[in-house]
Amino acid sequence: MIFAAALTEVAILTTDRLRLEPQGAQHLDGLSALLANEESRRLTGTHATFTQEQISNHLKGLAEQADRADWAIIRAEDDCYLGEIVLNELDADNASMNLRIALAGEFGRGYGTEATRAVVGYGLDEVGLHRISLEVYAFNPRAKRVYEKCGFIAEGVARDALHWDGEWVDANLMSILATDPRGGSVVGGGRPRGRRDRELGRSSPIGAKLEPR
Ligand SMILES: CC(C)(COP(=O)(O)OP(=O)(O)OC[C@H]1O[C@@H](n2cnc3c(N)ncnc32)[C@H](O)[C@@H]1OP(=O)(O)O)[C@@H](O)C(=O)NCCC(=O)NCCS
Repeated sequence: MIFAAALTEVAILTTDRLRLEPQGAQHLDGLSALLANEESRRLTGTHATFTQEQISNHLKGLAEQADRADWAIIRAEDDCYLGEIVLNELDADNASMNLRIALAGEFGRGYGTEATRAVVGYGLDEVGLHRISLEVYAFNPRAKRVYEKCGFIAEGVARDALHWDGEWVDANLMSILATDPRGGSVVGGGRPRGRRDRELGRSSPIGAKLEPR
């Protein structure tokens, strides 16, 4: 049901202004800055802090993980690392994954929408997913708007899912199915060729939170 090769060797995706490239050891500085960004940490509900060694090990291990796809979001015009976007929590039996995205700045310039559309297209068309789901916290209307623009439908609310600065915050659950209308499409990229299929299992839940763990 799933085209496993699209996860074992993740394709580079290109959009009008971005290059989404498989995230790896070369993105240590960019991911470290993202994980230290207070605004991104709050909006993703990330309580945990990470050492450089943890981040480095996480990046080095990504290429070996067949049950997820991590991209660095690179601005094409100046090769600036803007953030990351991830498909994880593979449920191969049910052809579903979770999506999360975080930029380290440059908010509100359309980059998040562009990257999300590209990865949704990859997940549904190249990985062969039936469903992509996500969680977005109630204090993050900008992200919710991006997901709606990309075709995600609100499914419900996980009440008091996050405790942040002494307040309980709801999480909105959203998903897009392969049969739903899309909010846009990938400009470039596509199915990786000659890739080796691998048996796929489940990964532990992560939701919207930043990694590594
Ligand atoms: C969420 C995120 C990826 C969105 O990417 P972005 O590049 O900032 O967003 P875009 O510019 O593509 O789109 C923002 C949209 O939200 C709208 N918006 C901005 N603030 C808003 C608000 N307070 N309420 C409603 N809509 C809002 C913008 O008008 C725009 O919609 P439009 O194109 O219809 O005008 C990015 O802001 C980010 O990484 N934030 C920090 C981490 C995070 O929140 N991750 C998501 C966790 S679920």
